[in-house]
Amino acid sequence: MSLDGKIATRTGHSKWVTGASARERVMEIRRQHQAILVGVNTVIADDPSLTVRTPEGADDPDARLHRFILDTGGRIPVTSRVLVRNDDGLTTIVGGPDYPGSLEKDLQSLGVSLLRVPLRGSRIDLAAAARMITGMGIASVLVEGGGQVAASFLEQRLISSICFFYAPKVVGGPSLFPAVGGTGAQSAEELLPVRKWHFDTVGDDMMLTGALPVDSGLTVHPNPFAAV
Ligand SMILES: NC(=O)c1ccc[n+]([C@@H]2O[C@H](COP(=O)([O-])OP(=O)(O)OC[C@H]3O[C@@H](n4cnc5c(N)ncnc54)[C@H](OP(=O)(O)O)[C@@H]3O)[C@@H](O)[C@H]2O)c1
Repeated sequence: MSLDGKIATRTGHSKWVTGASARERVMEIRRQHQAILVGVNTVIADDPSLTVRTPEGADDPDARLHRFILDTGGRIPVTSRVLVRNDDGLTTIVGGPDYPGSLEKDLQSLGVSLLRVPLRGSRIDLAAAARMITGMGIASVLVEGGGQVAASFLEQRLISSICFFYAPKVVGGPSLFPAVGGTGAQSAEELLPVRKWHFDTVGDDMMLTGALPVDSGLTVHPNPFAAV
């Protein structure tokens, strides 16, 4: 993110706020997890591969990273990289109970799995999704954005550790793409305290890691950033 907490410009461009060293560090962090998860808006905006890549930019054939995309009602384009480049069969869509059957067939033909998860309000119930993902034998998930998804996980206390990268740059303007969206805290009591935080430099950028109090119903991954 920029110093003023934005993950994209006002036109939605997010490549690249931080530099090459930070991107390499993100690949190391992906390597430490069994799965990565993003919201459908990130797929629509960036068309990411959500793989572990080597410093040369090639997909690491030895890395097995499950890919989850929150897509309540089927807005994901069928041409998205995460769908069409699914040779390893590790892409899963987390959809709502009314996920369109026609799109489900398209997903099946691409070898993409669909988890139908109950809603909380109008969106995926994240605690239910977390339980299903755990049921697949996956114990650590890296939530990599965007801002709305980050906010939902944080608001529901489902995050045990954070890792924020800051580029020494200022985007300015209103927060169209904040690192953490949602409605935000109302009072000082609602602020989310980050504990055991650690600050480091990565290339020209800064990296802050820290621990958060989690919902007691979840198993906490033992310090996922220990090796960072
Ligand atoms: N700089 C970075 O590191 C970075 C990383 C990631 C993304 N980005 C940028 O972030 C922007 C996208 O962020 P965004 O905040 O607009 O969207 P987002 O968080 O990527 O996706 C949000 C969407 O996910 C779906 N969703 C399903 N269940 C949800 C739940 N429980 N909570 C929240 N969302 C849920 C919703 O769509 P449905 O209702 O249709 O399901 C929602 O609109 C892009 O511009 C991208 O480039 C930057």
